[in-house]
Amino acid sequence: RPRIVNTIAEYRELRHEWIMQGKSIGFVPTMGALHHGHLSLAKTAKAECDKVVASIFVNPAQFAPTEDLDRYPRTFESDVDLLATVGVDAVFAPAVAEMYPAGITLDVAKQSGTFVQVLGKSHMLEGSVRPHFFRGVATVVTKLLNATQPHKAFFGQKDGQQCAVIRTLVRDLLIPTEVVVCQTVREADGLAMSSRNRYLDPQERALAPVLYKALQAAEALYVAGERDASVLRDAGMKVLQSAGVQVEYLSVANSLSLEEEQGKIGADGAMMSGAVKIGKTRIIDNILFGVE
Ligand code: PAJ
Repeated sequence: RPRIVNTIAEYRELRHEWIMQGKSIGFVPTMGALHHGHLSLAKTAKAECDKVVASIFVNPAQFAPTEDLDRYPRTFESDVDLLATVGVDAVFAPAVAEMYPAGITLDVAKQSGTFVQVLGKSHMLEGSVRPHFFRGVATVVTKLLNATQPHKAFFGQKDGQQCAVIRTLVRDLLIPTEVVVCQTVREADGLAMSSRNRYLDPQERALAPVLYKALQAAEALYVAGERDASVLRDAGMKVLQSAGVQVEYLSVANSLSLEEEQGKIGADGAMMSGAVKIGKTRIIDNILFGVE
């Protein structure tokens, strides 16, 4: 089983040993409630690095007061068991006070202290629905990278905008870690795995793959040569509308700048992403068109 480390001081001792032995370190940040999507990141990390540390930390700063912080699934023991199956060496599971020494309140207006904001990439798409979200993500990922000081850190394409935000902060803040993005892992019917899928009742679960079906409908056109972003968007929207789900957004944008594609999509490809609500649960997904 991986070694459980609760403090930064204890982790730094372990890291010192690894570095003295000349080992490379891979890092997989998570909020727990692990599934095969998370495990695929850990597997890739283990293949690319000598030692792998995964973090389990439900980050208060990325939840709005109205969101599911209190009911976010917490399954620590079985998470550690799963991480053991792929050879993860250590689990970093800090208390909130370890990550936020000054404390943290969910009410943005009452917060003080240091936060990381990635301007220009945090207000659209997910940020249009969850305005506080990427400030919380960028802040905690910066803290986690400073705490663990890995050679490489592994993230899932499932959260495509998060990948763009993290690539940007690592570049802008001169963080000496290589960001590696891993493919989205899906259920047999195409639904992207997510810790929140467990909130879906059987009827909702049956409907949930519709977002991926919409993305696939657009992808079929892209593969056939269609490059007009609005034609691709419309094709996806048609699938969502005929299923009668509530659409929060459906976008075709540059995968790094996140600027919405107008007219024909550019030579560096695009990310088509969307969010729908199935009952009370938000489902997000994306696919890449012609992005290396
Ligand atoms: P969490 O939702 O637990 O996801 C942790 C990592 O697993 C993220 O990089 C996410 O993109 C990846 N992941 C989730 N589902 C996946 C799937 N189906 N296929 C591939 N990868 C998948 O994302 C977060 O936590 C947090 O925002 C975090 C980065 C840990 C900061 O708090």
